[in-house]
Amino acid sequence: MKKRILVTGGTGYIGSHTVVELQHSGYEVIIIDNLSNSGVDVVDNIEKVSGIRPVFEELDCLDYNGLDALFAKYKGIEAIIHFAASKAVGESVQKPLLYYRNNLVSLINLLELMPEHQVGGIVFSSSCTVYGQPDELPVTEKAPIKKAESPYGNTKQINEEIIRDTVASGAPVNAILLRYFNPIGAHPSALLGELPNGVPQNLIPYLTQTAIGIREKLSVFGDDYNTPDGSCIRDFIHVVDLAKAHVIAIDRILQKKQKSDVEVFNIGTGRGLSVLELIHAFESATGVKLNYEITGRRAGDIEQVWADPEYANKELGWKAGTNVEDTLRSAWAWQLKLRERGIQ
Ligand code: WQD
Repeated sequence: MKKRILVTGGTGYIGSHTVVELQHSGYEVIIIDNLSNSGVDVVDNIEKVSGIRPVFEELDCLDYNGLDALFAKYKGIEAIIHFAASKAVGESVQKPLLYYRNNLVSLINLLELMPEHQVGGIVFSSSCTVYGQPDELPVTEKAPIKKAESPYGNTKQINEEIIRDTVASGAPVNAILLRYFNPIGAHPSALLGELPNGVPQNLIPYLTQTAIGIREKLSVFGDDYNTPDGSCIRDFIHVVDLAKAHVIAIDRILQKKQKSDVEVFNIGTGRGLSVLELIHAFESATGVKLNYEITGRRAGDIEQVWADPEYANKELGWKAGTNVEDTLRSAWAWQLKLRERGIQ
């Protein structure tokens, strides 16, 4: 009997890649998603990639009764991977209340329902933004949590505290918090990738849409930071490497290998790359010239952050193995496939 895993936000960018890896590892996956930032066709593409069609229910994690009914309908869910959240730094500065409601109440609903339906584990999609601008780089899990620079980052900090306090209160819940850095790239099949609704907020989809001619020009949000070339530095990790870390985390919880009820891991490559370096890496990896211009800074942006992934490497036996050129080529192949499919 396959173990059942609930993936919230499972038609999203990271969620869909994680569903495929879970299926490859023998898990039965149930996806819920409100389709606010993804299309239901992703379920078809997951099936094309893995050969297994996951269960899909359109559902918003803000809908407590809907969640309760879902757990009752699909009995025996052993653990949850919770991706469903709003995730754009810039947008969160403009719409803080949307971010606080969506990102906090969704998690609270799940945590309240887990004990009632004997769901014992949760893997939470956290973010390096909880560190704010680290004093020391690369950043380890022991780095102090600093004041978030955006409402989005603050929701991730509060989410982590909600989980810790819930577990500390004696709730029968085990948790692993995965602090992502910057997921980019696409599945090697080019059937799954990042396709946000509307104008992309994240760098790579905007970059590849510019390269293919959908967008006229990429704006580089500032080159006056205190970095070697003045642009922000990030730790860009292939989304499939990130997805694999989630399967290891689920295995760890279900096999009761955790060393504490709440564990935290940085899921990054350990390599910092600036926005301008990434642009040049894209051009050399794909042979495609990119039209970009330097503009003003974006509110909420961290100047520079990249991971020290040693703890995850050693403790989880996980390592990001894809180099940035191959990662960027996968993002470009995805963009070309979207064009071929007449989607963009
Ligand atoms: C990266 C860099 C921008 C767009 C956030 C979350 C993180 C994760 C990814 C969910 C920044 C610059 C961007 C553009 C640009 N969320 N940029 N022009 O803000 O680092 O991370 O999204 O998975 O948790 O914190 O990602 O891709 O928006 O920006 O110059 O058109 O690219 O200023 O320096 P970010 P991003």
